[in-house]
Amino acid sequence: MAFRIAPSILSANFARLGDEVEAVVRAGADLVHFDVMDNHYVPNLTVGPLVCEAIRPLVKVPIDVHLMVKPVDRIVPDFARAGANIISFHPEASEHVDRTIGVIKDAGCKAGLVLNPATPLSYLDYVLDKLDLVLVMSVNPGFGGQSFIPATLQKLRAIRERIAGRDIWLEVDGGIKVDNIRAAAEAGADTFVAGSAIFGTSDYAATIAAMRAQLTLAAQ
Ligand code: DX5
Ligand code: ZN
Repeated sequence: MAFRIAPSILSANFARLGDEVEAVVRAGADLVHFDVMDNHYVPNLTVGPLVCEAIRPLVKVPIDVHLMVKPVDRIVPDFARAGANIISFHPEASEHVDRTIGVIKDAGCKAGLVLNPATPLSYLDYVLDKLDLVLVMSVNPGFGGQSFIPATLQKLRAIRERIAGRDIWLEVDGGIKVDNIRAAAEAGADTFVAGSAIFGTSDYAATIAAMRAQLTLAAQ
């Protein structure tokens, strides 16, 4: 299985965002995770398409946009134009989940559905085959630096079973560190968002390498 590490720029130094994004990609990031918060769907406010467009030319890796905004549809084409490769959204933030998936795909991006800790898997019942990614929140969305919720592991296992052999990424987001990334991988995740665990350390490459070493153990 291919494992991907997606540093969340939420924990980067925003005064030096371009340098931070370049540094984390040099350090081995597979994706750049871009958290968009609107102070409405979640109680925090971050960045929008302008910032996505500004970092786009700096890196070649895919930009993984995590929308924590309500409504969703109107802003999707803006992110696609700003260079997003993957756009994920929360079903509770969209009146028409199937339509929103279509809006993302029509904009030329891969589509992901995000499940909060209390969101049931039934949201996947009729749309799983249309998704490129399922993003499982292991914290309640809105802030970096929160603790991993252990029940996520069971949820990852259940979703991995539903995905079966399909080419759908299973991403986990929130509280991922060197000491729990292996458990998340063993539960079925293949893509790992980590904000504070990477940007909170002085040597991003060493931290990403330590995460990969844990993932290698998970693969054995
Ligand atoms: C939380 C965001 C996460 C956050 C993760 O709402 O979706 O991507 O940045 O941060 P850490 O890894 O510090 O929990
Ligand atoms: Zn996120």
